[in-house]
Amino acid sequence: MNEYELKKILEKLKKNIFESNKNKSSHWLNHSENIDDILDISKNYHFGSYEEKSYKEYLYFFLRRMVFGNKIFKTKLYKKHKIIFDEMNRIIDADTIRHIFTFNSISKYIEPKSICIIGDGKLNGVLSSHLMFPEAKIYSINLSEVLMHDLVILNKTNLKIKKEVALIENVDQEDNNKLNLIPSNFKNFLLNKKIDLFVNIASFQEMRKSEIADYFKIIKNNHAILYCCNRDYKKLVGGEEIYFNEYPFNDSERIFWESCTWHKKYYSLRYPFIRKFKPDILHCLVKFSNKTN
Ligand SMILES: C[S@@+](CC[C@H](N)C(=O)[O-])C[C@H]1O[C@@H](n2cnc3c(N)ncnc32)[C@H](O)[C@@H]1O
Repeated sequence: MNEYELKKILEKLKKNIFESNKNKSSHWLNHSENIDDILDISKNYHFGSYEEKSYKEYLYFFLRRMVFGNKIFKTKLYKKHKIIFDEMNRIIDADTIRHIFTFNSISKYIEPKSICIIGDGKLNGVLSSHLMFPEAKIYSINLSEVLMHDLVILNKTNLKIKKEVALIENVDQEDNNKLNLIPSNFKNFLLNKKIDLFVNIASFQEMRKSEIADYFKIIKNNHAILYCCNRDYKKLVGGEEIYFNEYPFNDSERIFWESCTWHKKYYSLRYPFIRKFKPDILHCLVKFSNKTN
């Protein structure tokens, strides 16, 4: 992807915002109103942080260890992230560390050849997928503006995969690239792709029930394994109440299902520095096998 190609894809994504807006819940419609500079990746906009290195990194060093322990920083996956993040001059933040925990855990159960991230933020899911499973083909589906941030961040890396990116612009498009960015309005592109693994972190919890149901149809159609990590309950600003236990998990086989240990606490540079996540965050790995679907 050269600068010209990057600009073209960003333009197309920007034009598509109107269409992917139709997939937004009240939560996302509400937060979208506060997006002033759509290409400013340093803004969180509720889908993740991107912080350049500064003196703050030394403070985070201790806080991160108090929240997450030491072991995670010794894993191969963390070390791979460190190389990429140093090249980008980006701080490895709590969002990235949550993804490192996640993909370390998933790798104990499955070696996927293809992975779909539903609702990534600041490229964390794509990066962890690629660094843990370098041979895997990756699909990332999201709202258009979030994909714009992913692309800008990807372009800052030296990863070879950035030369193998396709933007999906219709559901029948050829599928011959290693990384496919899919605006949510083209979700049916994902049907019949034999995708091994779907990953959804902190994202179904903020979607409309009909949208969650559409994604589960796609996961079931692929006879895939799903890693799902979301709040047990969340009430959206429009009043809709989203319960983890009510996602359409029917016909799936549980590999694990428990409270997520790396989603218990978080840190900030403001007193008292470390806080507890109030809602319980559940995570599970479930399999939708051929037999049942
Ligand atoms: C709180 S962020 C979580 C980001 C990331 N998964 C993480 O855990 O750091 C929720 C994500 O869900 C995405 N999202 C919301 N509605 C969506 C939809 N209809 N289809 C796909 N992604 C959606 C948002 O754009 C955002 O990227």
